Amino acid sequence: MTRHAAVIGHPVAHSRSPLIHGYWLKQHGIDGDYGLRDVPPERIEAFLADFAGSGLVGANVTVPHKEAAFRAAVERDPVAQALGAVNTLWLEDGRLCGANTDVHGFLANLDAAEPEWARALGEAVVLGAGGASRAVVYGLLSRGIDRVVVANRTRARAEALRDQFGPRVLPVDWRDLASRLDGCRLLVNTTSLGMKGQPPLDIDLSALSPDALVTDIVYVPLETPLLKVAKARGLATVDGLGMLLHQAVPGFERWFGVRPEVTPELRALAIADLAAKGQLT
Ligand code: ATR
Repeated sequence: MTRHAAVIGHPVAHSRSPLIHGYWLKQHGIDGDYGLRDVPPERIEAFLADFAGSGLVGANVTVPHKEAAFRAAVERDPVAQALGAVNTLWLEDGRLCGANTDVHGFLANLDAAEPEWARALGEAVVLGAGGASRAVVYGLLSRGIDRVVVANRTRARAEALRDQFGPRVLPVDWRDLASRLDGCRLLVNTTSLGMKGQPPLDIDLSALSPDALVTDIVYVPLETPLLKVAKARGLATVDGLGMLLHQAVPGFERWFGVRPEVTPELRALAIADLAAKGQLT
């Protein structure tokens, strides 16, 4: 019997999840499909309450429904529990279960690109304090990083992360960012700055350690202005596409029973799609 999965969002037409899961379904010769479900906010609760009636064996959940999915899941993995957001759903004996795989995606992307990135790191600097930042901060702390500096335009949101995760999180004012970059060895952008249609993230990277790694969770464009400047300075960079590809792995395994791999071929496919839409730079 064909197994159906989908990504649930609003809007959702732009999602690249069908490309990713479609590639794996074909690669493994699985009798399944992966589609799009555009569910408006006023219908999401009812949709999730009757998830078993949707015909789906599971789903990814994207903006703006990750919190609704968190509330609807009767069982959640510890990461989802910590983040208050679910991006992966599946059914177990008819019960709706939820996980958050964004942390896995973020960490696996760095591991794949720079296997030693966390070794003797000491401190990391994270820009932004929204939902994506929460996943990144949680992931960095889970890898034993001593201190995570969080710089955000709205300081109160950075302080909320410190209140949730404890004193290893250090909130700083956006205007004090420059002083925190001195000798910094890992810089992560989680703000929407640099995204297509948004202003660039314009910061001076000259104080960063020469062996610093700069990563952006924004992947449209693939090469954000931040990554471009970092590359020009000779710094190591990791783009955000890998996070998207890696966060998809655990869901596919749950729904279709095979743990898929993020292959160079899959990445090339995603990059070709970005190129076709003029989203590389
Ligand atoms: P997400 O769930 O993707 O993290 P979000 O919760 O809306 O989205 O967070 C967006 C992040 O980008 C926030 O850290 C936001 O800063 P504020 O908390 O001050 O809003 C940051 N951001 C967006 N536009 C910005 C701008 N023009 N300058 C600085 N930071 C900006």
